[in-house]
Amino acid sequence: MVEDLRLDSLEGVGPVTTRKLSDAGVHNVMDLIVRGPVEIASITGMEKDTAEKIVNKARQHLVDGGLIANHFTSATEIYKHRQSIGRITTGTNCLDTLFDGGLETQALTEVYGEFGCGKTQFAHTMSVMVQKSKEEGGLEGSVLYIDTENTFRPERIVSIAKAHDMDPEKVLDNIIVARAYNSSHQILILEEAGPVIEENNIKLIVADSAVGLFRAEYLGRGTLSVRQQKLNHFVHLLSRIAETYNCAALATNQVMASPDVFFGDPTRPVGGNVVAHTSTYRIYFKKSGKKRIARMVDSPHHPEEEVIFALAEAGVVDPEEAEKKTTKKAITKKATTKKTKKSEVEATVETPEVEATVETPEVEATVETPEVEATVEIESDDFDPKEE
Ligand SMILES: Nc1ncnc2c1ncn2[C@@H]1O[C@H](COP(=O)(O)OP(=O)(O)OP(=O)(O)O)[C@@H](O)[C@H]1O
Ligand SMILES: [Mg+2]
Repeated sequence: MVEDLRLDSLEGVGPVTTRKLSDAGVHNVMDLIVRGPVEIASITGMEKDTAEKIVNKARQHLVDGGLIANHFTSATEIYKHRQSIGRITTGTNCLDTLFDGGLETQALTEVYGEFGCGKTQFAHTMSVMVQKSKEEGGLEGSVLYIDTENTFRPERIVSIAKAHDMDPEKVLDNIIVARAYNSSHQILILEEAGPVIEENNIKLIVADSAVGLFRAEYLGRGTLSVRQQKLNHFVHLLSRIAETYNCAALATNQVMASPDVFFGDPTRPVGGNVVAHTSTYRIYFKKSGKKRIARMVDSPHHPEEEVIFALAEAGVVDPEEAEKKTTKKAITKKATTKKTKKSEVEATVETPEVEATVETPEVEATVETPEVEATVEIESDDFDPKEE
């Protein structure tokens, strides 16, 4: 393993070059690889040839240390390198199945879907799960959370941590939140992230949303190519960081319903194809009543499949888990209303699908009673403050 990632550990890189590089936000050998020769030349003003030489040296340094693979590599080597890929459990059986064990390091995973489908909830849940011990499916790592929409909520982290029997204070301490105010700032955060990732043992980088600010700032067709170019830069940087630092990258992307599409899925990613082509995995989240459907859309080795999950106080959960909780809440509520209810009613509350319950005579009876209205209310925690 390479212990020394300092820039001046590279042969021929002296104090002057080191200063030039660090002034431009390049702080270690990893950063050189992440940014690449063209960018290094443009941000430091050095000759392109020189930049290429330095980046090549950096690459060799990391190859020698076994941190990255050489360009001519046997399949066995690649296989071995892939063994070092870590997986972060999602805390649910259903999504772990979809992800084939969990969210992978050295990869960029894009989660896209409509508003309120659970992208942010998933990002919060993963920020907690990555901190779990390896035996429990985590990576004992910290999180860099790039929040572009001001939707990061520490309270949610506390609830999710508690639900997983983790110390909420410790969990909060291990999440570094970077609030991005505009798209340039969002890029800058990532460009400067190298030392933060290294010093804090970051194993998960979240960009929620990866696309929102670019979309807001570059409106109209005329600006589309600039937007795609900048967004392209951001997602490439994100995916190279994930590969170089062996951490998982999770980018969210909102999709709009586009009514002009009649065949296939009537939604399309706002970020267009840029995000799609760079991300290793793409997951589509869809609302289905109170439940959510997750579909693996693009993956080099996963089968294209769908699973059902739910959103709850504990973050993303297995659907059975959500039903248990709903029943418990309903029972508690009933106890406080002081109205006695038949046990059949409680049984029917468990099933979220109204169609299923309507068939049973007990439910028909209860639909008219005010108690059921109360329980229906409790069940509908499908609340999105932004919808108001
Ligand atoms: N404490 C909670 N308990 C149960 N469900 C919750 C809780 N907090 C949020 N939710 C659920 O999460 C949904 C919001 O999901 P989320 O914010 O992740 O959506 P999103 O996909 O990020 O949307 P957007 O594109 O607008 O950012 C709410 O509609 C609600 O159903
Ligand atoms: Mg969100």
